[in-house]
Amino acid sequence: MTEPTEATHEPTLVPLGELPPLGVVPRRMHAWVIRPERFGPPLQSFQPEEIPVWDIGPDEVLVQVMAAGVNYNGVWAGLGEPVNILKVHGLDYHVAGSDASGVVWAVGNAVRDWKVGDEVVLHCNHLLEPGVSDLQTIWGYETPDGAFAQFTRVQAQQLLPKPRELTWEEAASYGLTYFTAHRMLIDRAQIEPGEDVLIWGGAGGLGVFAIQLCGVAGARAIAVVSSEEKAQLALSLGAHGTINRRDFPDLQYRPPETPEQAKKRFAATKAFGKRIWEILGERKSVEVVFEHVGQATFPASVWLAAKHGRIVICGATTGYELTFDVRHLWMQQKRILGSHFADADSARRANRLVERGLVKPVLTKLFTWEQIPLAHQQMYENKLHGTVSCLVGAPRPGLKHLDETLAAMNE
Ligand SMILES: NC(=O)c1ccc[n+]([C@@H]2O[C@H](COP(=O)([O-])OP(=O)(O)OC[C@H]3O[C@@H](n4cnc5c(N)ncnc54)[C@H](OP(=O)(O)O)[C@@H]3O)[C@@H](O)[C@H]2O)c1
Repeated sequence: MTEPTEATHEPTLVPLGELPPLGVVPRRMHAWVIRPERFGPPLQSFQPEEIPVWDIGPDEVLVQVMAAGVNYNGVWAGLGEPVNILKVHGLDYHVAGSDASGVVWAVGNAVRDWKVGDEVVLHCNHLLEPGVSDLQTIWGYETPDGAFAQFTRVQAQQLLPKPRELTWEEAASYGLTYFTAHRMLIDRAQIEPGEDVLIWGGAGGLGVFAIQLCGVAGARAIAVVSSEEKAQLALSLGAHGTINRRDFPDLQYRPPETPEQAKKRFAATKAFGKRIWEILGERKSVEVVFEHVGQATFPASVWLAAKHGRIVICGATTGYELTFDVRHLWMQQKRILGSHFADADSARRANRLVERGLVKPVLTKLFTWEQIPLAHQQMYENKLHGTVSCLVGAPRPGLKHLDETLAAMNE
C-alpha cells in the first residue's frame, strides 16, 4: 500500500440508503465497528460508527457494498476469542464481514482487469504479498476492512463477476461457504461421477453447497441433518437421501469415554452404516466423507468411508482433538485430506457454476442494515441455518443491478 490512489473525496458522509455519484468517494462512512473495550456477544460488540473510508493501494479496489454475508468469524472477532483479531491486523478497530456483493467505486492505478461500475462479488482470500507468495489472510477477519460498512477495501484478485441473475443479497450470501465446499470436494477429494458422498451438516452453510456440487459432479449425496425441515431442504437441493442424526445419538464421540460407551458408539456407527446401505439400495460404503464437525463425528467418518475412500475436513465445530481407530485407515488404505478456504483460481471456477445457474445460493434469512448485530447474535445462539445475508447499500431486497438500485432509491 505505497501509493494511495487519488480518489475524488467530495461529500463528507453519505446518508444510509443513498449512494454518492458513481466513482465519487466520500471521506467518511457508516460502519458496524468492533472495538476491544466492548468485546462480547454481537449485540454488545457491533456498534454503529462513522469512520474514514479506506485509502486504497495500487492493486486494491474500493467496493460500494450492496449486501454482506454473515459468517461465524464476525462473532469470533466481536468476542475477541479465540484470538484478539485486532492484534493480528494492528488497528484499534475492526469492521467484520468476509462476504459481499457490490459495485467497484475506485480502483488502484495498477488494476487492469476491473473498472469503476463493475458489479462484483468477493472472495475472502487476501494475499499477504500478492505476486510474491501465496501466504493468505482472511479479508474481513484478519484484515480490518470488511463488508459491514458502506465501503470495503479488497485486493483486485478478490473480485469475481456478480452472477447477473442474482439479487445483491443472494450474491452476498454464498462466497465463503461455497468456495470452501468447492475446494474440499472438487480440488481436494476430487469427487467423480458415480461416487457416493456422506455430508455432515447437510443443511448447514457448507452442506447446502456440498450437496449441489455432488449433483454437478455426478455423485450422489447423503445428507446428515437434525430435523425434518432440514431434511426437506437437503432433498430440495438434490440429496439422494438424508439421515437424521438424532436417530443415532450414541454415534457421537464424547471423551472421556468408558469401554461401555465405546461399545455403544461402535454399535451406533454400524447401524448408521446400515442406514447408508438402505439409502443406496446395496451393501456399499460412501467413497467420500465431507467433514467439518470434528471430534464428535470423526471416528465414525473414518470408519464409514469405503476402502480407498477419502475423508476431507476443513473445520472442527465440536472440538479439534480428533481420535479414531487408525487400523480402519491403514488396513483399508483410506486418506484424510485437509482443506482450507480456496484461492482466486478455484473461487473463479466455483463462481462460474453459479453464473451458469448450476449451483444456486441458499439464502435462508435476510436482515436489514440495522439488524446486522442481531444477525450475528442469532448465529452465535445457533438459531440460523443455510446461509444468511444483510442489506447494506441496497435499499430493499430483490434488486440486481446498479441502475435499478439507483431507481429504487428515487422511488
Ligand atoms: N477452513 C475453512 O476454510 C472453513 C470455511 C468455512 C467453514 N469452516 C468451518 O466449518 C464448520 C461448519 O461451517 P458451516 O458454515 O457449515 O456451519 P453451520 O452452518 O453452523 O453448519 C454446521 C452444521 O454441522 C452440524 N452439526 C453441528 N454439531 C454437530 C454434531 N455434534 N454432530 C453432527 N453434526 C453436527 C449441524 O447440522 P445438523 O444439526 O442439522 O446436523 C450444523 O448445521 C465450522 O466449524 C466452520 O468454522 C471452515
